[in-house]
Amino acid sequence: MKHIGTKELSTKRLLLRKIRLDDDRDMFEQWASDPQVTKYLTWSAHQSVEDTRHIIALWLRDLEEPHVYRWAIELKSIGKVIGTIDLVNVDSRHKCGVFGYCLSAQYWNQGIASEALRAMLRYLFEEGDFHRIEASHLIENPASGKVMNKCGMKVEGNKRKKFLGHDGKFHDLVIYGILKEEFLLD
Ligand SMILES: CC(C)(COP(=O)(O)OP(=O)(O)OC[C@H]1O[C@@H](n2cnc3c(N)ncnc32)[C@H](O)[C@@H]1OP(=O)(O)O)[C@@H](O)C(=O)NCCC(=O)NCCS
Repeated sequence: MKHIGTKELSTKRLLLRKIRLDDDRDMFEQWASDPQVTKYLTWSAHQSVEDTRHIIALWLRDLEEPHVYRWAIELKSIGKVIGTIDLVNVDSRHKCGVFGYCLSAQYWNQGIASEALRAMLRYLFEEGDFHRIEASHLIENPASGKVMNKCGMKVEGNKRKKFLGHDGKFHDLVIYGILKEEFLLD
């Protein structure tokens, strides 16, 4: 499978771009330190901006690789990063990927994740060689499913008690997928 990496993508309100080390404070303050944002994620809220710098440094190490697809979401009107969207699992054999996203709570419910997801799907299917993209969300986090649904993804089932949450309990995951031909027809 031919990979094309993290190219800059522009939409009406957003610039999807590679993160930079000098985004550390915005990332920390806007979303990485907020337990409300990380409530349904695999990672916990950062305690200090050093935690955030450490993660950014790890990402920067990989970002030049063509099979790495990881964008910071910059809101054009303020010129600052407010979240991320990325493929967390790239399967070259089957031309598939699994994505995740998170956004500063200050900007929720303004269609921003949907705008970013649409741009990423278009890039992966039209310019990239992907055949299928999938994602999942905790059943308790319906806003994430709404975003996937708005972008044409379909529910493919539930995985029961698949996800160990920060509360120490196992939670059901709802699985969504979309095929290239479905996205291009939409
Ligand atoms: C999930 C997340 C990325 C959505 O971002 P967003 O920019 O607010 O998403 P959008 O505005 O594009 O769409 C959200 C939709 O969910 C709806 N929604 C919000 N809360 C909801 C709820 N409790 N139940 C059902 N729908 C809900 C909104 O009304 C909106 O739908 P609409 O456009 O039809 O009104 C954001 O909430 C987030 O970062 N959450 C924390 C991290 C996270 O959970 N990531 C996903 C892990 S799977």
